[in-house]
Amino acid sequence: MAASMFGLARATGEVKPLPEAGLRTTDPEAYWLKIRKDQFFLPEWRAFLNNGSLGVAPRPVVAAVTEFLENAAALTSDEYPRWGYETLDAERAEMAGFLGCKKDELAFTHCATEGISTVAMGLDLKAGDEVLLTDHEHPSGKAGWQQRAQRHGITLREVPIPHPPRDSAQLAELMIKAIGPKTRVLSFSGIISPTGVVMPVREICDAARARGVVTFVDGAHMNGQIPLQLSELGCDYFAGSPHKWMFAPAGCGILYIREENLDRLWPSIVTGDWDNKPLKAARFMKVGTNNRATIVGMMAGLRFLKALGPDNVYARIHDLARRNYAMAAARPHLEILSSADHRLYGSLVTIGFKGAKLDDLWKKARERKIWVYGSPQLRLSTHIHTRVADLEAFYSLVDEVLLGKKG
Ligand SMILES: Cc1ncc(COP(=O)(O)O)c(C=O)c1O
Repeated sequence: MAASMFGLARATGEVKPLPEAGLRTTDPEAYWLKIRKDQFFLPEWRAFLNNGSLGVAPRPVVAAVTEFLENAAALTSDEYPRWGYETLDAERAEMAGFLGCKKDELAFTHCATEGISTVAMGLDLKAGDEVLLTDHEHPSGKAGWQQRAQRHGITLREVPIPHPPRDSAQLAELMIKAIGPKTRVLSFSGIISPTGVVMPVREICDAARARGVVTFVDGAHMNGQIPLQLSELGCDYFAGSPHKWMFAPAGCGILYIREENLDRLWPSIVTGDWDNKPLKAARFMKVGTNNRATIVGMMAGLRFLKALGPDNVYARIHDLARRNYAMAAARPHLEILSSADHRLYGSLVTIGFKGAKLDDLWKKARERKIWVYGSPQLRLSTHIHTRVADLEAFYSLVDEVLLGKKG
């Protein structure tokens, strides 16, 4: 893949072509190892199993960002090298095409938190109106509603999510049954952050819509981790983080506002055009001067993903997750919080340690350059740069620390 295919005007000398596609079928391990070696900066000694917190930008993305910054500093273009007052129509159209929504329903933000806060702050709600959440929301998925509760007297209720869940039907039923007479908004993660459980979003949103309840999906983990078409989710609002699973540099978010909801959401960070409704979703990108290089990097990440083939990427990361699950399941000293039904997870698999003391595990993981989140409920992520050997190194360390086995 030539550098120009990722949107670069000139070759940086650092961006290598993708390997022959045939290698992916004849020798998938060799293909993905080559991708890691050629397309990422990750050194041989690093095992990175925490993509769920923040992904790794590949070489073409770093090159696109760097090149943009260089050109911005040289003022080679007549356009301001910024975003925050611009509508970025071409970029939004390309991203919307990939995510399965209309350009006018999509705004770029800095992260999922910003999109979530925009929705939580921007909906008209009055005292006594209820927002229904799960008990597994990320702090960013709760904070905006909690502030509204303190400021405006809305009430919050959390639906307990079992871990591991039995199946999708159980999850849908729990959420739908919890909708009460005062529920105005259902706000939940499409992929649950601590456990990686994929929620039956469409079923829940359809049921909520039939009851006149607005739906917000915290999709921080969805875009890039699992196949996704936003318009098919059936939700009213969605916030995502391309910097987790879509190879974007840190500082990239998306906010989807279903067309019919565009005019009823109030933007929170405002400048001129804050009430220029014909701008549609672009109204929510008028946030003041911002670094355009991150957007350029995000688009390079999208093109990188498209060049690899999103189906191939999903197949690889899901296969690694299934191997991860099997490695955990083979160890009676561990418990698994993710569902045994692999359709209920994408790449994230969460394990527990049955109360074992873990200080030594985290210390040794650091020493051996195995990057994990370090929590007694440990969410392990696999992306295309993850090697099977990284998972094996982690589990043999677990055996060493918990069972005293030498690897
Ligand atoms: C479910 C969920 N929502 C929101 C966030 C916040 O994402 P960001 O840091 O991109 O704002 C995260 C981050 O891990 C998350 O897991």
